[in-house]
Amino acid sequence: MAEVVTSLEDATALAQASRPSTPWSHARAMRDKLDASLQKIADGHQNSPIALDDVRAATSLLQRLCLLESDAMLAVPLRLTGGRYGVRHSLATAIVLELMLTRMGTSPSERRTAMNAALTMNLGMHELQEQLYAQAGALSPEQRASVLDHPNVSVALLRGAGLEDRMWLALVTQHHEHLDGTGYPRKLSGDQLWPAAQALMLADRWCAMITERGYRPGAPPDKALQLIVGRTSGVADTSIGRALSDVLGPYPPGTPVRLVNGEVGIVCRRTYDPSAPVVRVMHPTYGPKGPNGVNRLCIESKLRIEACIPAAELGFPIDTEQLWPANGPL
Ligand SMILES: [Fe+2]
Repeated sequence: MAEVVTSLEDATALAQASRPSTPWSHARAMRDKLDASLQKIADGHQNSPIALDDVRAATSLLQRLCLLESDAMLAVPLRLTGGRYGVRHSLATAIVLELMLTRMGTSPSERRTAMNAALTMNLGMHELQEQLYAQAGALSPEQRASVLDHPNVSVALLRGAGLEDRMWLALVTQHHEHLDGTGYPRKLSGDQLWPAAQALMLADRWCAMITERGYRPGAPPDKALQLIVGRTSGVADTSIGRALSDVLGPYPPGTPVRLVNGEVGIVCRRTYDPSAPVVRVMHPTYGPKGPNGVNRLCIESKLRIEACIPAAELGFPIDTEQLWPANGPL
């Protein structure tokens, strides 16, 4: 039954209770809002110019969250569930991209434009992306043609919504192009590719690789990073591969891991040493001493990370609100 609001105080309390208050409640609210906005642009809805403004608003908030709560936001690619796969993927890619471009010294306004591109890059295959999420078999010739053309269709939809931003449109066009001209749809190469487009492509790949599909689990984050950075040559500038590596490290926040002492936990915070993050270990025997588990700084030899593990091997549910509370009022 709907709650009855009888006074101004009740109304204020209700508004505060329903307002996102942690980095992760913001991320979930953003996922749901983007779901509706991207659908409008993909459908060529008459309100698609307003939906574009919603995308810009999401980007501004995302940039602030990445600045203030970068570890919580970096866990989004691995831990955000629910809603459409395509929306989760775009949100995850935008977060990794923002942190890479910050590392590369890109200005805040250019980073916002790049995030706008990340959120809208796959509009041209909005429905197909959900089909492919669940499809184990090879692509049909029609599906393949749609995949190869989707950057062009995305640009057409964005123009149809009234977008004229040259950089935003160029990044969407270029998000599958390679430095050596082997990408698609235009086989651009070398200086024709914007550095931010190369960063977008690598962030897109990593997020796709670590995410489960309907028919297979996601790759462990350390293996995915190794594969992508190892194959950067010819695809993107090696300095951009390094930016990806610097931001993520082998064990980014949200990664389930096993330590050499046998304990299992979730990476919750990065440190100055990419291979030695802080891991929240949960164990029934800690009981009242630490109902939320204990943090292990994985730098001592007996506390090093041995391996990434599937989340199912943790033996406890992952509570994102508990793992990444707000650093302060949001
Ligand atoms: Fe794409």
